[in-house]
Amino acid sequence: MSGLDRFEMGVGTWAWGDKGVWAYGEGYGEADLKATFDAALAGGLTLFDTAEIYGDGLSETILGRFMNEKPETPFYVATKFWPNPWYTKTSILLDHLKASLKRLDLPRVDLYQIHFPMPFLSIKAWMEPMAQAVKEGLVKEVGVSNYSRSQMLRAQEALGKHGIPLASNQVQYSLVRRKMDFNGVREECLKSGIRLIAFSPLGMGMLSGKYTPQNPPKGPRRIFYFNQLGRVQKLVARLKEIGEAHGGKTCNQVALNWIICRGGLPIPGAKNSAQMTENLGALGWRLTETEVTELDEKSKSFTW
Ligand SMILES: NC(=O)c1ccc[n+]([C@@H]2O[C@H](COP(=O)([O-])OP(=O)(O)OC[C@H]3O[C@@H](n4cnc5c(N)ncnc54)[C@H](OP(=O)(O)O)[C@@H]3O)[C@@H](O)[C@H]2O)c1
Repeated sequence: MSGLDRFEMGVGTWAWGDKGVWAYGEGYGEADLKATFDAALAGGLTLFDTAEIYGDGLSETILGRFMNEKPETPFYVATKFWPNPWYTKTSILLDHLKASLKRLDLPRVDLYQIHFPMPFLSIKAWMEPMAQAVKEGLVKEVGVSNYSRSQMLRAQEALGKHGIPLASNQVQYSLVRRKMDFNGVREECLKSGIRLIAFSPLGMGMLSGKYTPQNPPKGPRRIFYFNQLGRVQKLVARLKEIGEAHGGKTCNQVALNWIICRGGLPIPGAKNSAQMTENLGALGWRLTETEVTELDEKSKSFTW
């Protein structure tokens, strides 16, 4: 039984303080994020995903500040360690964890994740300080991120020697990023009881329908999705129709619901309360099996 079991969706906080990709400070700031946080809580969302790298620690600091104002709320806080290639000892993870706890102003986090597999030190070696952190009470559950099927299984085996389950693998998964359906990760997660946490579940905004080849997003997101914006439009048109058949659900809500129907736990980011409130509308209803199958089929060329 994982603490993640009680969640169908969480909140991503990469944009909380990040200037490089999300342009924090231009069009949204801390007051908007506070309203976003309050909207999440009002909708019953208490799972927040952050990372030491987001905004160079600012995401954790802002989240910590907001949580401090709601001491009665049972938050589930997930953060991540960024394994730089020049690290020579895996024990450095414990120092970084303690720095994250300080920024979050928490005695422990619910989920500590390795942000990506760093090949210079073995997965087994990285799981040692993770296990130690659990034993010391600094971390409740252990997760990985961007791990392949075999890397995920190696992490699970290494943690298993300490009697600790691998709680999750956080990977990019959405209607415009279907790779996890074709490389065995989603299937293995479902089989092994490892929760697939779906990051960038809205295709970084592409599935909202507001971006087109003529109106692409500003900044580096252009690079990630620009060549696909044309193809995305056809999918978005169908999401609109399906949403209408469900009493006026939006493209984003349908896209998030599809992930939930596929067994994933989406953690959409939101920059303001209106986006957060819209995303909450993904909960409390389900696409039909026929619709899920149709969307599987219509998005299967997004093989990244
Ligand atoms: N583990 C990893 O390597 C990794 C990598 C990436 C992300 N993540 C995690 O996953 C979370 C979510 O991913 P993400 O933030 O990359 O992408 P996302 O959730 O797919 O997209 C979020 C962006 O879409 C737009 N948006 C959100 N809701 C909207 C709405 N209702 N209507 C219109 N636009 C809306 C906003 O940007 P605009 O308004 O600017 O369009 C928002 O910042 C992150 O915050 C982070 O916690 C993890």
